[in-house]
Amino acid sequence: MKIDPKIQSHFTRPLIRWYRSAGRDLPWRNAASPYAVWVSEIMLQQTQVATVLPYYHRFLSTFPTIQTLADTPLEKVLKLWQGLGYYARARHLHRAAQAIVRQHGGEMPSTFEEIMALPGVGRSTAGAILTIAFGQRHPILDGNVRRVLCRFFAIQSNPREKKIENQLWAISEALLPRKDPGFFLQAIMDLGATLCKPKAPDCPICPLKAGCGAYQKGLQALLPLKTPRKKVPHYDVIAGVLLYRDQVLVRRRPLKGLLAGLWEFPEQRIGPASAQLPSEKTCTTFFKKELNGHSGPSKHWMSLKHAFTHFHMTLYIYKSRTIKKEKSAAPYRWVRRSGLADLPFSTSHQKIVSKLTP
Ligand code: ADE
Repeated sequence: MKIDPKIQSHFTRPLIRWYRSAGRDLPWRNAASPYAVWVSEIMLQQTQVATVLPYYHRFLSTFPTIQTLADTPLEKVLKLWQGLGYYARARHLHRAAQAIVRQHGGEMPSTFEEIMALPGVGRSTAGAILTIAFGQRHPILDGNVRRVLCRFFAIQSNPREKKIENQLWAISEALLPRKDPGFFLQAIMDLGATLCKPKAPDCPICPLKAGCGAYQKGLQALLPLKTPRKKVPHYDVIAGVLLYRDQVLVRRRPLKGLLAGLWEFPEQRIGPASAQLPSEKTCTTFFKKELNGHSGPSKHWMSLKHAFTHFHMTLYIYKSRTIKKEKSAAPYRWVRRSGLADLPFSTSHQKIVSKLTP
């Protein structure tokens, strides 16, 4: 796609000028290693900069090289990722590190095909890694860039439609300057994150307002057009905290699917949300099946809500004691309260852990 040369003077130049004076100073900028740039891009895929920062520092000081990451058991990587969400990213990073050690001697590869072949890396992430870390020239199209382009070019169609998406990739590529494209990418991402925000963009102080189609037409609140969100289902889930002396029964989730490989207190989905405590019969059946065949008195302890991408849940948590340990084969395990903090739990179950480990 051919871009009007005036666009460069309305877009690229003012953007770069703005970024020089107002851009954020982030640790993966300024000559970070390709490994560090890769880690940052994976963490930033679904998470904002402020949340990512402490995780990024901890990750790189715990796993300073691709080799150390590859040599670490997955469970330790998941523990470090605990709370950041979208845990497939941690599993992919770990698996990719092992592939890089096997196939590239532990050095980050530097071709588009090799980077795309790593688990967890799509076209936009590959473009960001190669452009920022290796100074190559590849376009990106993440959420920030998509929003900036839809607004600037006043694109009044759904950007997720294949045809429009292809146009956006072409625009993103055409805008990339020959000189220092990595600097440009960071600039456009920063503009999207700090001024051209999803809600309430700061148009009056935006360096691109003179050429911005959405601003000229007053469409900035409407663009980019959204795909109507499907209503997500809401389920009730029951979980049991079974204590034996100082130990608690936990289990590891399967290595595939939601929250794969994380630990949890035994739980079970019991139906659509009802806004009522589960019935006594539901509790008894659950405790019999999931908790040691134990059917003694159990007490509702607390409830909490959690939103996943595809569903919401209300978790009803029951606590009980047993005098006899039965269930202990994998994936179940009896763990001392003090040992719970060593295992990676999902965010909702971590709230239970923190109540058990004062
Ligand atoms: N989001 C994704 N990649 C980013 C980066 N390198 N800087 C800021 N935000 C980002």
